[in-house]
Amino acid sequence: MPGKSLDTINKTEREYWDENKLERSSIKRLRRHAFHFSYKRQEKILNKIIRKTFEGKELLELGSHEWLSWVKGRVKPKKITCINISQVELDKGIKNVKELPFEIEFHLMDANELIFEDESFDVVYGGAILHHLDIEKTMNHVYRVLKPGGFILFLEPMNINPIYKIYRKMNPKERTPDEHALVGTDFKIIKKKFTFSHEFFDFMSVFFGFISLKIFGDKKYGNIINRFGFALDVVISKIPFLYVLFARVIIYGQKR
Ligand SMILES: C[S@@+](CC[C@H](N)C(=O)[O-])C[C@H]1O[C@@H](n2cnc3c(N)ncnc32)[C@H](O)[C@@H]1O
Repeated sequence: MPGKSLDTINKTEREYWDENKLERSSIKRLRRHAFHFSYKRQEKILNKIIRKTFEGKELLELGSHEWLSWVKGRVKPKKITCINISQVELDKGIKNVKELPFEIEFHLMDANELIFEDESFDVVYGGAILHHLDIEKTMNHVYRVLKPGGFILFLEPMNINPIYKIYRKMNPKERTPDEHALVGTDFKIIKKKFTFSHEFFDFMSVFFGFISLKIFGDKKYGNIINRFGFALDVVISKIPFLYVLFARVIIYGQKR
């Protein structure tokens, strides 16, 4: 993010989220339709990782309000600490606290400058958050606050495929001004300090989903076209150099 200070970026981020300035409804229908099967695959993969790494552990959620959906029906952690730079976003998570079988706390905090003690957490995770941050700065902090052998788990958008790049350029109101869906150099930064595993989602499913939506209409997800796009993606996502085509990634790994 050359040119802008982190303070300026954070101020804008806070404003956008506190004031709910994004306009994200235009492709909601297509996303729901085209990503129907990949959301299921995503849940299956997350389920496996979360069950293995979150149970009885001290967790830190960056960019929080989704904590409940990460753990609900899956695991009982020891404690979840949630941070966000926006109080409005944090409040969305606070309102879900009822009686819980584990501890939970919330802090208004910049994820680029975590103020927790060294080696405080077993897992640091988050959904759609790294791409709002200075990845290098944040990953240094994540490394510092994780206990030896601690885990990371993130679900992030990617911005390598030229088609997605063009789409993003044409629809700036769906994004905050300084966010930057991940590119290869971000992966390299993460790999310096963490083991790095990944699962990629949504390339052909977007195109086949679009056609399927036009032909079959909304909520008719299970048709052959939608299924074919998804099946193609699962195959292509396993071919190492083709990962650049995909729109989203689950990143998980361990502190080196
Ligand atoms: C795309 S939203 C994701 C929210 C939620 N994690 C989810 O999965 O729906 C990005 C979140 O990052 C938060 N955020 C942006 N910059 C941040 C920063 N420097 N520190 C902490 N949170 C930040 C925003 O307030 C917003 O809640």
